[in-house]
Amino acid sequence: MVHEKKDLTGKVMVVTGGNSGIGFEAARDFARRGARIVLICRSEARGKAALAKIEAETANDQGLLYVADFSSLASVSAVADKLLADFLKIDVLCNNAGAANGKRTETPEGFETTLVTNHLSGFLLTKKLMPALERAAESGLARIVFTSSYGHTNSALDFDDLGLQNGYKTLVAYGRSKLMNLLTARELQRRVGASNIVTSAFHPGAVRTPIWSKGGFVGRTLGLVLYPFMVSIKKGADTFIWLASSEDAASVGANGNYFYERRQPRVAKHATDADAERLWNVSEELVAPYL
Ligand SMILES: NC(=O)c1ccc[n+]([C@@H]2O[C@H](COP(=O)([O-])OP(=O)(O)OC[C@H]3O[C@@H](n4cnc5c(N)ncnc54)[C@H](OP(=O)(O)O)[C@@H]3O)[C@@H](O)[C@H]2O)c1
Repeated sequence: MVHEKKDLTGKVMVVTGGNSGIGFEAARDFARRGARIVLICRSEARGKAALAKIEAETANDQGLLYVADFSSLASVSAVADKLLADFLKIDVLCNNAGAANGKRTETPEGFETTLVTNHLSGFLLTKKLMPALERAAESGLARIVFTSSYGHTNSALDFDDLGLQNGYKTLVAYGRSKLMNLLTARELQRRVGASNIVTSAFHPGAVRTPIWSKGGFVGRTLGLVLYPFMVSIKKGADTFIWLASSEDAASVGANGNYFYERRQPRVAKHATDADAERLWNVSEELVAPYL
């Protein structure tokens, strides 16, 4: 808890899905400590409301809103271009936007919605923002945090059916996308090596956020069952904030690793290095037209 008070003045910290839940909680904490927060939200109205609330509560008026829908790689690519034009350096990227979907749908770009919203968009955004993150790393530590989930244990990846055409289940689609977040953090760290760029993934716990009510019948039912056992948004965001901003996150081994309550729990056996590398290569091919 000691490092929670570290001053973040001068840091540019991007949070996707920063208008709600743990993303909002993290962004508010960063703003309170002086960072310039950059929210990427799909709804301009919800994003503006979040920024106004953060400004009112923290007296930090440097926050900025960018609008992008993570179910569209074209939209994410465009927002990445805007960020690259506006910021020479980005210190922290929090790939946090995510959703569970009750039914299988395909986006106009031809991707299964959960795959693109929870994984491919964050992957593309990260790839495109790397020059700005690398610039930040020249004079300090840059961090890339992926909001994963214990749900990564639900199921191994099926590279022959990443879009779940052969039978769709909400928890399988969601769980695999969260496994992709974990594997992406690991593979990205392997690729950048022992540099000043530190990547990590985490599980926030079962948290009382609006995500459950947006997840169709399965999400709503699970949300009702788990509700009494869920933790507060503040508690759910603790590891997130710690990985994104504490001085010791790197020294405790946040190098591509997966955390829960600031510790490294065992990851699913199916979260293999081989799948991490394969997923990276497949994802690169899928997002290539939008780079
Ligand atoms: N709550 C939990 O128990 C739990 C557990 C494990 C992992 N997680 C993960 O935590 C992350 C944050 O979720 P949360 O629990 O804080 O729920 P939340 O309050 O619903 O926040 C999710 C954020 O993602 C945004 N988002 C969803 N779809 C999007 C899209 N197509 N384009 C752009 N933004 C989109 C949401 O925007 P809107 O407000 O416009 O919907 C919202 O800002 C997610 O990645 C989730 O998978 C949550």
